Amino acid sequence: MLGSATGPRIGITGLGTHVPERVLTNDELARIVDTSDEWIRERTGIRERRVAAEEEALTDIALPAARAALADAGVPAAEIDLLICATVTPDMMFPTSSALLADALGMPKAAAYDLLAGCTGFVYALAQAYGMLASGLSRCALVVGGDVLSKILDWDDRSTLVLFGDGAGAVVMEAVDHGGFLGFELGADGGGGEHLWLPGSGSRRFENPNGYVKMNGREVFKFATRIMVYSAEQILSECGKTVADVDVYIPHQANKRIIDYAADKLGIPLGKTVVNVDRYGNTSSGSIPLALTDARAEGRLRDGALVLMTGMGAGLTWGSSLIEWTTNGRAT
Ligand SMILES: CC(C)(COP(=O)(O)OP(=O)(O)OC[C@H]1O[C@@H](n2cnc3c(N)ncnc32)[C@H](O)[C@@H]1OP(=O)(O)O)[C@@H](O)C(=O)NCCC(=O)NCCS
Repeated sequence: MLGSATGPRIGITGLGTHVPERVLTNDELARIVDTSDEWIRERTGIRERRVAAEEEALTDIALPAARAALADAGVPAAEIDLLICATVTPDMMFPTSSALLADALGMPKAAAYDLLAGCTGFVYALAQAYGMLASGLSRCALVVGGDVLSKILDWDDRSTLVLFGDGAGAVVMEAVDHGGFLGFELGADGGGGEHLWLPGSGSRRFENPNGYVKMNGREVFKFATRIMVYSAEQILSECGKTVADVDVYIPHQANKRIIDYAADKLGIPLGKTVVNVDRYGNTSSGSIPLALTDARAEGRLRDGALVLMTGMGAGLTWGSSLIEWTTNGRAT
């Protein structure tokens, strides 16, 4: 799916994140599996990640992120009429985590549902909320992206254990008087689904009850480096922009080598690229909102800045979004 925005201007007016308190370092992982700080840093750029406590599930970390986004936007929870939660680690399959969040936040008029698109979930959810807002179906949306992958990892499997972390982010989306989303490119290739999968997690669980994340790292690496470049080029060309127009590049934070490759191939200087995989690892649906928040904290999200976000992940899925950042641009 590829398209540029033609309807009313829809932007992001609030941003919030939350990560669990517990920091897990590479050295600590090296005491659990046969790995080393040096190997992890060299192959992935990751130094540490956050992991949820035993009794913490997705909504426990998504709730503070959602509250922070609402406060940032200055929007009362009761005004939200759409809540989409992108995650592959909901508290449980149902009730959905989005319904639980809407209830905890006090959103009686919100439609709420979970969205499953691997690590690309957040970008998919932005596109969905955009469509609902632009069509007039929704007036004010909350998009949450978060995962607690530590709960579905095999803590004996070094090939996956070292890559992931837990975290969540949320954005408020509504009409803006300037800037806003310019377009989206989204895709999926189930043919490559076998390279990153969670056996035993659905109605096929009879084949493998209580499975953990499985991954063919080399294949996912090849896919990631190709698709990050392809998707970004597609959306830029669709929106009549060039790489030189991009002010802030927010790639999915899976591996520093993948980010470096994509930025180099696209011709985006590393100074414009947001990198925080070193501190959080791959937080799946939390990755892009966490990076957005870091970009803002560093003063990079000025009014009018062209922000390119690209995600990729299980499915295999991918997606890009281009937005002209708006500060204080809520349409009246
Ligand atoms: C997983 C990944 C970091 C592995 O890096 P790599 O350079 O491809 O490493 P390889 O898979 O070739 O493995 C090299 C060696 O390191 C070993 N190794 C794997 N994980 C290790 C670890 N955590 N610590 C130490 N050694 C490890 C392998 O067993 C292999 O040993 P061998 O040569 O004796 O067989 C890399 O493939 C990757 O990032 N893939 C994409 C993963 C991803 O982003 N997934 C999420 C997408 S949303």
